[in-house]
Amino acid sequence: MITIEKMKKEYIDEVYEIDKASVPIPWSKNSIEEEMNNILAKFIVAKDGDIVIGFAMCWFIMDECHIGNLAVLPSYRNQGVATKLLDDLLKECDEHGTNYLLLEVRVSNTPAINLYKKLGFEESVVRKHYYKNPDGTYEDALIMSKDRV
Ligand SMILES: CC(C)(COP(=O)(O)OP(=O)(O)OC[C@H]1O[C@@H](n2cnc3c(N)ncnc32)[C@H](O)[C@@H]1OP(=O)(O)O)[C@@H](O)C(=O)NCCC(=O)NCCS
Repeated sequence: MITIEKMKKEYIDEVYEIDKASVPIPWSKNSIEEEMNNILAKFIVAKDGDIVIGFAMCWFIMDECHIGNLAVLPSYRNQGVATKLLDDLLKECDEHGTNYLLLEVRVSNTPAINLYKKLGFEESVVRKHYYKNPDGTYEDALIMSKDRV
């Protein structure tokens, strides 16, 4: 059974491995730990039994919820895990008085763009050369947003 729980220090290595398997430049273990301890952040993991299979985090700043990171272990994709993680993050929007949700995504990342559209996010603007690639080139970010009314 897939469960969602709060990020803990003992999950840092697994979260790092998921991020490494998911994006060209993953967060460092230090960055993961910093965000885990950031009072403005909500950081959660999805687990299948004892195995961490995905994670998501967002920052609640004023009336905005900014989704900062999300990834699912490749072998667990397309089974609704990311949807479950985002549903859980967004449950706290009421408590924080969130009116507006925001995120950046690589313009080439069709799976993620489709996921966010399915959850009601709309394409906003393109931010040029936002992401650095390992080969030194850059990729644009699509900013997606959603009003919470
Ligand atoms: C994007 C990602 C988090 C989706 O996780 P997931 O658990 O597979 O997503 P879900 O199973 O909840 O899928 C929900 C919806 O997302 C979209 N989607 C997911 N995978 C897709 C794919 N490979 N191609 C197209 N659309 C896809 C679909 O709209 C899907 O709904 P559907 O099943 O009704 O078609 C996952 O592919 C991933 O970890 N990617 C690498 C990291 C990343 O890109 N993170 C986002 C950074 S902004």
